Amino acid sequence: MSRPIRAVGLAADKPADHNPLRDPRDRRLPRVAGPCGLVIFGVTGDLSRKKLMPAIYDLANRGLLPPGFALVGFARRDWANEDFANVVHEAIKQHARTPYREEVWSQLRDGCRFVPGELTDAAAFDQLAKVIADLDRVRGTGGNHAFYLSIPPKYFPIAVRQLRRSGLSASEGSAWRRIVIEKPFGHDLKSARELNRMLDEVFPPHAVFRIDHYLGKETVQNILALRFANTLFEPIWNANYVDHIQITMAEDVGVGGRAGYYDGIGAARDVIQNHLLQLLALTAMEEPVSFNASDVRTEKEKVLSAVLLPNDLSVTTARGQYTAGWQGGVKVPGYLEEEGIPPDSRTETFAAIKLEIDTRRWAGVPVYLRTGKRLGRRVTEVAILFKRPPHLPFEETATEELGQNALVIRVQPDEGVTMRFGSKVPGTAMEVRDVNMDFAYGESFTESSPEAYERLILDVLLGDPPLFPRHEEVELSWMILDPIEGFWASHGAPEPYPAGTWGPASSHAMLAREGCAWRRP
Ligand code: BG6
Repeated sequence: MSRPIRAVGLAADKPADHNPLRDPRDRRLPRVAGPCGLVIFGVTGDLSRKKLMPAIYDLANRGLLPPGFALVGFARRDWANEDFANVVHEAIKQHARTPYREEVWSQLRDGCRFVPGELTDAAAFDQLAKVIADLDRVRGTGGNHAFYLSIPPKYFPIAVRQLRRSGLSASEGSAWRRIVIEKPFGHDLKSARELNRMLDEVFPPHAVFRIDHYLGKETVQNILALRFANTLFEPIWNANYVDHIQITMAEDVGVGGRAGYYDGIGAARDVIQNHLLQLLALTAMEEPVSFNASDVRTEKEKVLSAVLLPNDLSVTTARGQYTAGWQGGVKVPGYLEEEGIPPDSRTETFAAIKLEIDTRRWAGVPVYLRTGKRLGRRVTEVAILFKRPPHLPFEETATEELGQNALVIRVQPDEGVTMRFGSKVPGTAMEVRDVNMDFAYGESFTESSPEAYERLILDVLLGDPPLFPRHEEVELSWMILDPIEGFWASHGAPEPYPAGTWGPASSHAMLAREGCAWRRP
């Protein structure tokens, strides 16, 4: 008996430039953006050069951008179009993922424009409007333009108001205008609400794309495939079998040249509020009715709204600040010695917290989140640790080496999934020891994973929103973090930890108190 095919997506989620001749379920045809352009504000910044420009080239190289695609840079530089094109070229040469091809670059270069100006300068925005109108004429961009604010958040309001004043935020007919913003989406619940109110005055909710680049990672999307395309895991994905969950995002680098952004923000606001809570939401959510944006976001919001904080935050959170140490054989400075960091800074570079999710599926299962800079190595993983069997019919000595069963989603690097379980050691005696079974992307697939920004920029241009957190998710995440930040603010300075180690002693004590230990990824 054939099953009726369910319509994919709600009308509200359907991109305006939806092609009636294409069936969105047909995976043989790649999704290609229709006529459009992208305007980047803050084009001289690191993000723009290292991630956005290379991603645009990689998309063009994969044939996913329209031939007339336009890339407009806006910044406080006295540049002509050619100067900007040279900067883009340099960025591509240094950071693109896919091989350099002159014909792809030459097509992209023809669509490069630069508008010099300050964000406060109305005339510069009027000039931008003229450039865009001209691109519609000569490149056929059809009035479809996305504005990417790769600028410090304090400048969002002025940029957005200028877009409105110059008429750039408004679209005509079926053409679209979209705004893309990078985190941080505020620094607490109150400021996040203010930011949203300001965006709301100018752009409708479906035109606002909030980037959490973790959601663009292949391995993060694979959490949904692993959970909902298989039967193997779902029956044990609950409090009956899961002992606890550990989500780690560790970096070996320090704050580098980002002192201005990072100090005063810290690890929890920088990473837990967004990346780690999104990983948690995907790991813990119920199966969505479909993968359209509103169904997925609704399930994630249910998880975030069910998060419970422990009563005593002094023993269920930990924060640290790195001091000088050795990393990869090199002596590195402590946070307080980094350029641009005030010597009395109390900003944490490591944060660990315990949460619970108050639902039937997860009640009583602790979730531990940790992130930090200058840790032992760069690794992001989601580890599900399972309960021990209720009864072990072996001699006690046979299972001395047996740990907890674990399923580890290796987000990066070395992308894949590991399953850990007990196996008999060969020999005449019964002895059980942990072994690993591995899936590695590099071995199972020939194509390499696209960069997160490739996927996300393409989705913006297609108007495809499932991978972008909605404002409600942002608010719910701040509701989780605000009490912790408040507690920390009134409880002294973070605890020091030497660079190259796995964080402060209080973080290890926090788990030891509960009879567990952090994994050494
Ligand atoms: C960013 C944080 O969102 O993610 C940075 O602001 C961090 O502090 C970065 O370094 C890490 O990204 P990735 O993709 O290298 O894990």
